[in-house]
Amino acid sequence: MAVLPEQHFQVKMLNFARGRSQQRSTRSMPFAGVEHHDPKRKGGFVGKILMVATLAALCIIVLKQSPTFRTPSQFSKHEEGVTHVLVTGGAGYIGSHAALRLLRESYRVTIVDNLSRGNIGAVKVLQDLFPESGRLQFIYADLGDAKVVNEIFSENAFDAVMHFAAVAYVGESTMDPLKYYHNITSNTLVVLEAMAAHGVKTLIYSSTCATYGEPEKMPITEETPQVPINPYGKAKKMAEDIILDFSKNSDMAVMILRYFNVIGSDPEGRLGEAPRPELREHGRISGACFDAARGIIPGLKVKGTDYNTHDGTCIRDYIDVTDLVDAHVKALQKAKPRKVGIYNVGTGRGRSVKEFVEACKKATGVDIKVDYLPRRPGDYAEVFSNPTKIYRELNWTAQHTDLEESLKTAWRWQKAHRDGYGAS
Ligand SMILES: NC(=O)c1ccc[n+]([C@@H]2O[C@H](COP(=O)([O-])OP(=O)(O)OC[C@H]3O[C@@H](n4cnc5c(N)ncnc54)[C@H](O)[C@@H]3O)[C@@H](O)[C@H]2O)c1
Repeated sequence: MAVLPEQHFQVKMLNFARGRSQQRSTRSMPFAGVEHHDPKRKGGFVGKILMVATLAALCIIVLKQSPTFRTPSQFSKHEEGVTHVLVTGGAGYIGSHAALRLLRESYRVTIVDNLSRGNIGAVKVLQDLFPESGRLQFIYADLGDAKVVNEIFSENAFDAVMHFAAVAYVGESTMDPLKYYHNITSNTLVVLEAMAAHGVKTLIYSSTCATYGEPEKMPITEETPQVPINPYGKAKKMAEDIILDFSKNSDMAVMILRYFNVIGSDPEGRLGEAPRPELREHGRISGACFDAARGIIPGLKVKGTDYNTHDGTCIRDYIDVTDLVDAHVKALQKAKPRKVGIYNVGTGRGRSVKEFVEACKKATGVDIKVDYLPRRPGDYAEVFSNPTKIYRELNWTAQHTDLEESLKTAWRWQKAHRDGYGAS
């Protein structure tokens, strides 16, 4: 937690200053009655008085800076008419876009992120856009540390939590499942416990279509049985179950959003998607297309051309991040105490890998080399959502998702930020 080292330092300084000032004032006592007779001593006495005064002044300054004496920050108090949202994972791709949208709509935002996958550069962009006090604070912390999380909740007055923070790569989850159960399931429990302990009443939870596994029937509705087939999907499903069980005896307002495949970036080019280079191999199709367009990788490998789909390649439902954060804001506004809303967030329209690659070629203007290979085990042919429920209940539909346009926007940011957010 970023604020902790500073606070400990101040507390240490405070004790140190108190100790010294006490020592000096006791040592000066024996000189008190004889000072007028000895000019040398008199000078020493005045000097000592000055020193004591200086130390006292220093003490006051340090006391004033100490957290206990600091004027309470705007983040630590509820304020009429201001909704303070904790955005976990706000340095990441979707979380940073959500924070931007919340800030634009006058919410107060606290980002908590351990920067394991996110970028401090994204937080800096947000801080530069919203420098006014009481708008945005960043706390560097790991949600796996329950004590620190509890401290964060004690020191801040949150009205709602958008819980994005997670490791989120299907392939990586099969190689390191415990990391996923810990980071997703266990950390969600930590966040939920802190919310319950500190009376935070609204939770918007980032879930995924991976919780459905390989449903027999398309499109996927919220009633489709959840039978996840990889640790990522299972960890998210377990986190959902914990939230649902808890909410049965709680007055918390809960919204669970199951996203399909997220693409795109801020249309004004301020934020983008910048995963760590070492995660590229687990990465998403848009990242791979852009890497191929930039020549970082020689081309794309499309696995499977004999699926039972119109062009033989897999079909997925892509949703623009602008639409996705719009769904979050609507969910936040419509969340009701003691109610749980579960929603698919997708377009309802599947697009094939071949269509995606063609859109990416157009968006980037690069004739990306594509190798068509045999199927990869575990891939399913077709996944797309039925988004009727979210339209009916939250009045949300995808307004900004257009495969080629979304990719064009993302590509503009990628081209302008060849090293992502760089070392900023
Ligand atoms: N990107 C997608 O297509 C997609 C699809 C479905 C669901 N989701 C979900 O959306 C959420 C955000 O995904 P994203 O694509 O923005 O991922 P991301 O990796 O860009 O962002 C995740 C953020 O969480 C932070 N984080 C991870 N573990 C943490 C911890 N223990 N403590 C504090 N911070 C931690 C990371 O540093 C990072 O900034 C995730 O919950 C993910 O499962 C994403």
